[in-house]
Amino acid sequence: MEASLKQGNTLPASVFNYRHSAGRHFFQVPRPEQGYTMAFQSFAGDHPEFQIHSQHLTDTNALNFNHALHLSGLVQLSGRKLACADCHQPDAANTHFQPLRFDRHCQSCHSLQFDAHNPQLHIPHGEPAGVRAYLRSLPTQYADLARRSGLTAQADTEKFVAAQMRLLRERAFNGENLEQQIFFASDPSKQLAVDTARGPESPRARFAGCAYCHEVKPGGVDGLPRITPVITPDRWLIRGEFNHAKHAIANCTTCHAAPSSRRTADILLPTKQSCTECHSPAGGVSQSCSTCHSYHAPSGGFPSQASSH
Ligand code: HEC
Ligand code: HEC
Ligand code: HEC
Ligand code: HEC
Ligand code: HEC
Ligand code: HEC
Repeated sequence: MEASLKQGNTLPASVFNYRHSAGRHFFQVPRPEQGYTMAFQSFAGDHPEFQIHSQHLTDTNALNFNHALHLSGLVQLSGRKLACADCHQPDAANTHFQPLRFDRHCQSCHSLQFDAHNPQLHIPHGEPAGVRAYLRSLPTQYADLARRSGLTAQADTEKFVAAQMRLLRERAFNGENLEQQIFFASDPSKQLAVDTARGPESPRARFAGCAYCHEVKPGGVDGLPRITPVITPDRWLIRGEFNHAKHAIANCTTCHAAPSSRRTADILLPTKQSCTECHSPAGGVSQSCSTCHSYHAPSGGFPSQASSH
């Protein structure tokens, strides 16, 4: 193992990051400080702490999220607190979780309403160009809304549209300003907030602007902003295995301190020590290396650089 450690330190880190899995996003980690290999006796004993903890790594995902707030009683869904399963649904193999989707996991509360007087209208979620096109089509949107709510006479529709556009302009100086507010505002106390239009028992969150959840920067094409891509890792311990189905005996929160995490940057994963409660002679569950590792070369072998040594 010591010879292997020495040799490993001369190889590029990419040689060790050979594991991939279709559709999964692997958390990108730097080379471990002590190298990839170590000489030690047992998992429960001197097996190294997981790299995310030993190097105090942080989650760099550019999506604002606050587990503590969403799991507190302040946020309600049909009169009850949110549970992990409202956002984290097992994948088909029941080993990991499905990716989070705005439409499935956020939209029911963060519906992107922008006009307190007309909460039926929503900004379409997605590319900034689509949002701009929608905002430029607002007179048509209001006209459609008027028809849907039973206005039939052309003159009444025109009056309704003119009144709504005037109200909007009173809040946002002109169309461009409204667009800027929607892209860049992040403070829900700003006027775009619509919560007052609903009852106090409403679970809905106030919409401020895209920057409420996203990192939004100016400088895209045609004066549009750039939304930093949301990359939510779904494999964190990339050189070990894990299987949630085999751990259904334990509560989610024994391994993930989600209810007390306020920042996306927190990595909510258990330490090696917590695994040894079970994976140890005292815990009675296997601690053999092959329980958690498969040290086989990827199909096709290691890159030539590795085999040349
Ligand atoms: C309202 C939706 C929502 C609920 C409810 C929720 N999560 Fe999350 N969870 C997220 C989002 C969004 C992310 C990705 C952003 C981040 O990393 O904070 C995430 C990420 C995670 C991660 C990945 C690791 C990490 O640090 O990013 C774990 C583990 C996790 N959640 C566990 C839990 C557990 C356990 C519960 C229940 C106690 C829970 N979550 C409830 C939305 C939710
Ligand atoms: C059941 C309703 C509900 C769901 C589902 C939900 N949220 Fe929220 N969210 C809220 C409420 C309510 C607030 C608090 C609003 C306020 O204080 O004005 C909030 C606040 C936030 C904030 C501001 C956090 C802070 O620290 O102030 C962000 C960012 C956010 N949510 C992102 C998300 C994302 C991303 C998802 C989907 C993964 C999501 N929410 C799903 C109801 C929800
Ligand atoms: C309540 C939080 C929230 C708000 C507000 C929000 N988004 Fe998102 N957005 C998300 C989440 C979560 C994802 C990642 C999951 C997904 O793609 O569904 C995402 C993904 C995206 C993506 C990437 C989609 C893809 O397919 O890769 C774009 C572009 C985007 N958002 C634009 C916007 C714009 C523009 C706004 C403002 C009109 C906005 N978002 C408002 C939560 C939010
Ligand atoms: C015995 C400890 C343990 C328990 C119990 C546990 N997890 Fe995990 N969880 C982990 C570990 C370890 C990882 C990292 C797996 C990896 O990177 O392959 C993880 C990863 C995750 C992730 C990141 C995304 C993914 O697909 O892996 C989410 C989300 C998550 N767990 C949610 C939950 C929820 C919800 C529960 C309860 C139903 C739960 N976990 C129960 C240990 C646990
Ligand atoms: C509450 C006890 C408990 C804890 C804590 C625990 N495990 Fe396990 N683990 C088990 C049991 C029980 C099995 C199933 C053993 C079997 O099938 O023979 C298992 C099996 C596994 C397997 C084999 C999965 C498979 O596909 O066969 C892996 C990998 C694993 N655990 C990793 C971990 C890691 C990593 C941690 C810490 C983050 C951890 N476990 C924490 C009880 C636990
Ligand atoms: C209960 C599960 C479990 C057992 C048993 C286990 N490991 Fe690990 N091991 C892990 C996890 C998880 C990591 C962290 C992987 C990561 O950060 O990507 C890890 C990391 C390592 C590392 C650090 C290098 C690296 O890839 O970052 C080495 C070396 C290692 N294990 C070897 C062993 C050996 C040898 C044994 C048997 C004596 C063993 N492990 C037993 C789960 C386990």
